[in-house]
Formats: sequence, C-alpha cells, structure tokens
Amino acid sequence: MVKTGAIDFDKVTFTYDDKRMVLTDLSLSIPAGTTCALVGTTGAGKSTIGRLLFRFYDLERPAGGSIKIDGVDIRDVTQSSLRRAIGVVPQDTILFNDTIKYNLLYGRPDATEDELIAAAKGASIHESIMSFPDKYETKVGERGLRLSGGEKQRVAIARTILKSPKLVLLDEATSALDTHTEHQIQDSLDEMCKGRTTVIIAHRLSTVINAEQICVLKDGKVAEKGGHVELLEKDGEYASMWRRQQEVRDDGGSSKGSPVAGVASERQPLKAEPDQVTVKVER
Ligand SMILES: Nc1ncnc2c1ncn2[C@@H]1O[C@H](COP(=O)(O)OP(=O)(O)O)[C@@H](O)[C@H]1O
Ligand SMILES: [Mg+2]
Repeated sequence: MVKTGAIDFDKVTFTYDDKRMVLTDLSLSIPAGTTCALVGTTGAGKSTIGRLLFRFYDLERPAGGSIKIDGVDIRDVTQSSLRRAIGVVPQDTILFNDTIKYNLLYGRPDATEDELIAAAKGASIHESIMSFPDKYETKVGERGLRLSGGEKQRVAIARTILKSPKLVLLDEATSALDTHTEHQIQDSLDEMCKGRTTVIIAHRLSTVINAEQICVLKDGKVAEKGGHVELLEKDGEYASMWRRQQEVRDDGGSSKGSPVAGVASERQPLKAEPDQVTVKVER
C-alpha cells in the first residue's frame, strides 16, 4: 500500500477514556524519506501518536481528524498491510526463548541466510553473534544466553532491516541504555532510517538534533516545530528543554569529576543492567 511513505496527521483529536483529551487538533506533515522527532514531557501524547499510526486505536470519523500515508486514510487499508509497511523499534525489545536466528527472522521469516547476515551486519551485531558458542543457533532468553540491553536493541534493528519497511517508528529505542551504548547504536539506527520516513520519539534531545523536523508536544498539541538550530534560535520550549539537559550533563561532569554522574542522573529510572553501564574510573 505504501509507495513513498509521506505521513499527514490532520487535526488529530483523541481520548482514551472520553474524560481527558490526549491529542487535540494535532496537525503534522512528514515528507517521504525524512525524519520527524517527537519530544516533550512524559504524558504529552508521543507514544499515542505512534499507536494511532500503527492503528492500535482508530480515530473516530470524522471528528477525530485523520492520518494519511501517501494521501490514503489509514482506516481505509487493512491493519496487516499497514503494519507490514511500518517497522517499530520499541524501548524494550521482546526476545523469544529460542535461537538468535529465530529472533532475527521474526522481522521477515522467509529471509535468506545471506539477507539475515547482511541485516545482522547492518545492525553491527554479526561479530558478537559469531563469538557466541553456537553462533546463530545460540539460544537466547531464560534458558540461554542473556543479551545486554544494547545487544537486544541491535536485534530489534536487525529485524527492522530485514523487514525493510517504508516507515520506521522508534519509540524511546535507546532510552533504557546508558549514553555510551546509545552512542554506539546511533550509527546503526541512522543507517537503518536512511531513505525511510522516520518518526523518532526520544527523551534525550542529543539523539534528534539531525532530524529534519523536531516537534515539541505539550498538552496534546504541537507547541513548536522546526529544525534543531531554528528551535534553539527561537528560544522557546525546545531551547529550555535543551538547556536543562545540557546542565544535567555539565553538573555531572564538573561536580563529581566523572562523566558517569551526569549520565546516571540523566537516565530514566529503568532497570539498569550492570553490564550495560560503562563506569570510567578517574585516576
Ligand atoms: N491505554 C491508555 N488508557 C488511558 N490513558 C492512557 C493510555 N495510554 C496512555 N494514556 C494517557 O495518555 C496520555 C499520553 O500518554 P503517552 O502517549 O503514552 O505519552 P508519552 O509517550 O508522551 O509519555 C497520558 O496522560 C497517559 O496517562
Ligand atoms: Mg511514551
């Protein structure tokens, strides 16, 4: 169904419970092949936008506005064809208690061996896999190898590369990782999103500065949108969010003499796995 992958949100209005509006009259156009970042405080409605795009919920006609892909209302296509066109990398990737190969092929079960390896290389996880005892046949999960948070996200990226969707949705894809691992994964994400229409929901603004469009959501509305430099110059909502995040980093660096302090306070309080945190010891 999807040809170029242009997305148009037109006056999208949505409530989960008829009591409180989560999105009100939200309009946003994302040209094909470009990246749009959604930022804003927790509860602003960012993930809801992703859920609507994936049709976990349908907008009411006509009051709820519309979401169109290549000019076609997504309510007029089947859920399965819509979902085939969208690759999602969530915050926590679910792995099956099976081999690493099975877990990767979840992206596209009929992929060939060569395609599988190419995808793993694209996500920079091929070499790690080759170092596992049974390579691609290594069992992961409860009864097998335990992958680090960073490796799990690389599996999700490889799956998405295999799926080769026109649209990509990253919902806090690197938020549960420490900044060092996040940085390492950024290149694979950038490579995966190249040429695809991408919606990035992100907590750390440093990960979205290259997006063609950054959209600040506040109370279910678009408070501001533009490029990183443009929004900084505007000195509004985004600029103050940016400064707050910079301060967190600076404080951590200077007061404790260690970059890790800044990283730790910037992290969301998620189950930090000890093997994901790189601790630098200052001598
Ligand atoms: N399934 C749900 N039922 C009712 N309310 C929900 C549901 N999911 C999210 N909400 C509410 O909708 C608002 C937006 O949530 P969400 O889109 O997840 O925000 P964000 O991703 O920006 O943190 C929040 O106030 C949240 O409590
Ligand atoms: Mg969210």
